[in-house]
Amino acid sequence: MTADLTPKRACESYAEATHIILPSHTNPLGTAFGGQIMAWIDITAGIAAQRHARCVVVTASMDDLHFLAPIRGGEVVVIKAQVNRAFHTSMEVGVRVEAENPLTGELRHCSSAYLTFVALDEQGQRVAIPPLIPETENEQRRYEEAAERRQQRLQNRMQRRNVVHHRRLMVNG
Ligand SMILES: CC(C)(COP(=O)(O)OP(=O)(O)OC[C@H]1O[C@@H](n2cnc3c(N)ncnc32)[C@H](O)[C@@H]1OP(=O)(O)O)[C@@H](O)C(=O)NCCC(=O)NCCS
Repeated sequence: MTADLTPKRACESYAEATHIILPSHTNPLGTAFGGQIMAWIDITAGIAAQRHARCVVVTASMDDLHFLAPIRGGEVVVIKAQVNRAFHTSMEVGVRVEAENPLTGELRHCSSAYLTFVALDEQGQRVAIPPLIPETENEQRRYEEAAERRQQRLQNRMQRRNVVHHRRLMVNG
């Protein structure tokens, strides 16, 4: 089957998830486990990536993740994700996490993250994805910044590979 590489608008990939922090999601202080929030971030971002690529995607990486404010038990967590830029077989998804006070509706920005997903075909082989069309001013800014972050990721990857290569040389002589 030939992939449809017709460019797609950024907003077509938008995904949003809403959860409530239950006791099973909290630590002894009554605030949410970071790992639970990370899992929800990964799932919501993966849905955005699949909406863009319309095929199976796998998480290649998640950039630095900082929790800016704790999320308390009983609060509502809103996770918003959208593809920032599509490259060849990979794409960057930006995610914003907000906590909502269920009684007042007040929103707090708790975390932001950038994830890279790679598109795969039925055989598990990497497959080209459609280009992304940024439309709004924000989408255009995210699109430009995504290219800079990709450069940094590729450099980091090269450095990690060099370190592994040198370690092997030292072990094997
Ligand atoms: C992600 C994966 C498919 C990349 O495979 P690979 O053989 O390293 O592929 P390549 O080096 O050719 O890279 C393919 C694309 O992924 C991107 N990529 C690879 N590793 C990356 C990383 N760590 N961060 C960001 N992008 C990455 C490359 O830039 C390239 O993008 P492009 O095609 O848009 O130019 C492979 O490493 C994999 O299967 N990893 C496990 C994924 C998984 O199971 N995730 C769930 C968590 S357990």
